[in-house]
Amino acid sequence: MNTIPSSDSWHPLSWTGKKALQQPVYKNQQEVDSCLELLQSKPPLVSRGEVDRLLHELAEAASGERFLLHGGDCAERFADCAADALRRKLEVLLQMSLVLTYATRKPVIRIGRLAGQYAKPRSADEEMVDGKTLPVYRGDLINEFAPQEQARKPDPQRMIEGYHHAAASLNYLRALIEGGFADLHHPEKWGAHFLHQCADNADYRRILDAIADAVHFMDMLGGDAAEQLKRVAFYTSHEALLLPYESALTRLEDGDNYYNLGAHYLWLGYRTSQLAGAHVEYLRGIRNPIGIKVGPAMDPLNLVELVKYLNPAQIPGRITLISRFGAGKVKDLLPPVVQAVTKARQSVLWCCDPMHGNTENLPKGRKTRHVKNIFAELEESFKIHAALGSNLGGIHFEQTGEEVTECLGGNVALHDLDDHYETACDPRLNGAQALEMAFLLARLLR
Ligand code: PEP
Ligand code: CO
Repeated sequence: MNTIPSSDSWHPLSWTGKKALQQPVYKNQQEVDSCLELLQSKPPLVSRGEVDRLLHELAEAASGERFLLHGGDCAERFADCAADALRRKLEVLLQMSLVLTYATRKPVIRIGRLAGQYAKPRSADEEMVDGKTLPVYRGDLINEFAPQEQARKPDPQRMIEGYHHAAASLNYLRALIEGGFADLHHPEKWGAHFLHQCADNADYRRILDAIADAVHFMDMLGGDAAEQLKRVAFYTSHEALLLPYESALTRLEDGDNYYNLGAHYLWLGYRTSQLAGAHVEYLRGIRNPIGIKVGPAMDPLNLVELVKYLNPAQIPGRITLISRFGAGKVKDLLPPVVQAVTKARQSVLWCCDPMHGNTENLPKGRKTRHVKNIFAELEESFKIHAALGSNLGGIHFEQTGEEVTECLGGNVALHDLDDHYETACDPRLNGAQALEMAFLLARLLR
């Protein structure tokens, strides 16, 4: 285990001197230490070169030359580390990115909430399941989902398991990409399947035809243009929540800079963004690009302080502000935030997460979200940024490739949540609903 620094300078463990919210309490510290020591000896999952490339691309998105698509599970499960599930998630993200390239006329950066999105912040420490009070599920990296007292105990060995599942997932995603995604070359195939399920699709059909034409044209040109279609960059991300795990995957590169090499991109959750808190302390010292969730309780001036603190050198691409206000609130709450950041001359990439402000609680402890509210927040956010002369350069979804029934509405009729309600945390768009978001944006932006 690294030793704790005596001075107040940054160190991968300097966060231990600050208040760390949302951390599990492990029974056996010796076991925790030996797990962390093992993690420190493992090879990184990503490389510094990839992280630097993403930083550069995000800087271009901030200045309007690229567009960011960020999506994946709310809580990824170890069991999701399986070929079909991973392939379908990647497929949907790639299909959406093609539609968004058409919509925005910009190269799209793809970041998955994948290969490590295993830790969840929770609003209470306990929950009632079938009349029993249990410790809450905090994500597969920490405890088990099964509603039993023993399963819910935090187990440090799960950090080792998490690392291996992330490694296997990323390895398969890289292999799929390296092997070429033929599917992307035939939008008429995957698109036809989607359109077939939609009740109202005349507009979408026109969009799909235009995309298919463009893809065929590039294919026909051959050479560089066709190569361009095959080469897709894909990045991974997760919430920087479980700090012992994150610091164990933090590496000093070339003797000068620390990087978290467990993922390309990390974000600061809404519940752990206190300026004096441990999560902010950890994130300020790594070189990765980072996201900051921005919601209703965040004061615009405090946010400006946070942005300055996390990016004192004003490195372009370093900070993405991910707004998540909710369809009813965004109109009043987003403009003051955009104005404060602009006035302070902080260069950030603006991204909209239309999921987390639109969650509704249902009986049986379930949650859902309505597709119409999700899209309404997106539409409103694009309008607000345009009116303020700012640039909304990215979108953030909770989604999966499976045909789950967790969010309501959409063109592919879905009214019954009971069919396939499978999420371990927040409700995700299914494959068709996620693709529909991309088509709706194409209709909005073209
Ligand atoms: C999440 O992205 O899953 C999440 C918990 O978001 P937030 O921190 O914005 O509530
Ligand atoms: Co979530």
